[in-house]
Amino acid sequence: MMKKPSVLVARAIFPEVLQQLQSVFEVDHNQNDEILSPAQLHARLQGKAGALTTGSERIDGPLLNACQGLKIVANMAVGYNNFDVEAMTRAGVLATNTPDVLTETTADFGFALLMATARRVCESEHFLRAGLWTKWRYDMFAGAEVHGSTLGIIGMGRIGQGIARRAAHGFGMQVIYHNRSRLAPEVEAECKARYVDKATLLREADHVMLVVPYSAQSHHTIGAHELALMKPTATLVNIARGGIVDDAALAQALRERRIAAAGLDVYEGEPQVHPDLLTVPNVVLTPHIASATTRTRMAMAQLAADNLMDYLLRGQARTPINPEVVQ
Ligand code: GLV
Repeated sequence: MMKKPSVLVARAIFPEVLQQLQSVFEVDHNQNDEILSPAQLHARLQGKAGALTTGSERIDGPLLNACQGLKIVANMAVGYNNFDVEAMTRAGVLATNTPDVLTETTADFGFALLMATARRVCESEHFLRAGLWTKWRYDMFAGAEVHGSTLGIIGMGRIGQGIARRAAHGFGMQVIYHNRSRLAPEVEAECKARYVDKATLLREADHVMLVVPYSAQSHHTIGAHELALMKPTATLVNIARGGIVDDAALAQALRERRIAAAGLDVYEGEPQVHPDLLTVPNVVLTPHIASATTRTRMAMAQLAADNLMDYLLRGQARTPINPEVVQ
């Protein structure tokens, strides 16, 4: 009998998806979910043809040089800034991610965070739980209007477009966007979105939503300079990646009320959160859960597993990032 290929599943996943992998591969799993250090990852990848990773495993040139048999790394995430894709391509290792299956769920969460931030949902809940609600007051937790206001979206890929549709069609918002490249006119028309440069977006938007992938170019897309361009009544929502926002500069702007509020799902150096963000009241903080519905997380795990199985058993992955690797 042919020996089954060996794969590493680097983090805990749904048991039913693990079982599928175990039926066709020798699986080294990590269901106790302790994050592997780079040295542990290196050791556990020896002799493996594939790996299923999440954002917590860095796949780079030095690691790949030491893992010669590796053919594919399937990320259970749409973002893949934990991959050095160029190094993977040079090493002939296929990289895959999980696009599409999380688009609408993540767009929903962008809106959830926008609503919670603009309407001060968490701040008012903390107030209530602390027993501070003794009487109603005319200006109690008065926030910013969402419907009919102007939403500025930075990063207009699939998720950005999903947010634009919700904003324009559901909330009657004016949508402006900034992106590396302008969308086709029919897509702009469908999203009712108008392209503007970044400074115009920051000056005009009542709410700014960040949905841009992380790269060296997008590092600190929002820093002190950009925050200074925003309206003092504006809110900022980041569902993209930590590092897109300069968290220290944001905490200072929030403390000094140079913008009204922020909603963050991602952080520089997460799961650590900048201590200053933890002490300002006008920020809603969630632990990187934008795609976290049971159905969507299951679909992401299944797609990552399908990529491993399709590539290692049949030579073709479903959602390759560097398809040039496949001969
Ligand atoms: C989550 O952040 C993802 O990239 O899927």
